[in-house]
Amino acid sequence: MAIERQLFRTLLRRWASGVAVVTTRAGDQVAGMTATSFCSVSLEPPLVLVCANEKALTLPVIEKAGGFSVNLLADDQHELSARFALSGNEALRFEGLVCRSGPTGSPWLPDTLAVLDCRTVARHDAGDHVILVGEVQVAEWDEARAPLLYYDAGYRRLTPPGA
Ligand SMILES: Cc1cc2nc3c(=O)[nH]c(=O)nc-3n(C[C@H](O)[C@H](O)[C@H](O)COP(=O)(O)O)c2cc1C
Repeated sequence: MAIERQLFRTLLRRWASGVAVVTTRAGDQVAGMTATSFCSVSLEPPLVLVCANEKALTLPVIEKAGGFSVNLLADDQHELSARFALSGNEALRFEGLVCRSGPTGSPWLPDTLAVLDCRTVARHDAGDHVILVGEVQVAEWDEARAPLLYYDAGYRRLTPPGA
């Protein structure tokens, strides 16, 4: 018998993670959504994954584009996370953001901790989500920035143990 839904959700809140915004571009259509389901998969070849809800509006755009960028947010970017998680504001999500882009053309959000520009190499249905596996084409990071964290449904910053 599977674990009860609310128990499962409560348990998952105890898992701390970084926060990413997954962006994509298919022709003149741009899309992006906040995701904590980012994970490294393989070093050789360099693979990562993200899980997108099957109802996410960003998903069909990623599938059309054949690629996506994973923008890892810095610890002062919680408002960007909230913006890319809100539904109903899709047309406004990139407003005022000066983005660069890499080989896949997916927007790179400004001032992030890091970005990984990925070509989609596999797609797996998994319950109500789709697992997208990307091969990293190009990546950049900023040594000077610290990560935004997400834990127990709230944003956090790194604090070294004992500090
Ligand atoms: C901190 C945080 C993490 C999230 N992680 C994911 C995720 O990993 N996968 C997902 O499908 N949605 C995730 N969401 C929800 C989406 O960001 C949200 O549903 C968004 O509106 C989807 O946008 P779209 O429908 O325009 O693609 C997360 C939301 C927040 C606030």
